[in-house]
Amino acid sequence: MIDEKMQEAINKQLNAELYSSYLYLSMSAYFQSVNLGGFANWMRVQAKEELAHAMKFYDYVNERGGRVILHPVEAPPSEWDSPLAVFEHVYQHEQKVTGLINKLVDLAVKARDHATNNFLQWFVSEQVEEEASADEVVQKLKLVGDDPSGLFMIDRELAQRVFVAPATTTEGGAE
Ligand code: FEO
Repeated sequence: MIDEKMQEAINKQLNAELYSSYLYLSMSAYFQSVNLGGFANWMRVQAKEELAHAMKFYDYVNERGGRVILHPVEAPPSEWDSPLAVFEHVYQHEQKVTGLINKLVDLAVKARDHATNNFLQWFVSEQVEEEASADEVVQKLKLVGDDPSGLFMIDRELAQRVFVAPATTTEGGAE
């Protein structure tokens, strides 16, 4: 059985992951509106990943005999100034999420909840990847600057991304 405080914190994180999914879906819609289909694809895959993260928390609470409580999901922004502004936002957002995950780990350690700590380690590894992949696109966009041919090259590259579902197991270790 999971302790009440931990359960509440995980339910809150579930909401944060749903917000991330909503944010990236909104970014996908923005890219669609400016005819950058590859960027839109990348964000759509990212939105699915975030939904999968939310479901990992959902399954974990249930597995520990807890109770999932869903809260309202905040509306994300819908406009950005440029593709670079979008990806800088992604990078900042992922850094924020890393902070939230680290706080959850601190809580699990303090509560001597080893199972939750072990479960959260998957997210600790995942956040390293999340920050790195966002920063990689930020750096590429900075490199191409205002060159439209460079932008279209990145768009073609981001069109290749496909969704790979994370393992449904609630054990640690990033897949
Ligand atoms: Fe669920 Fe992008 O971290």
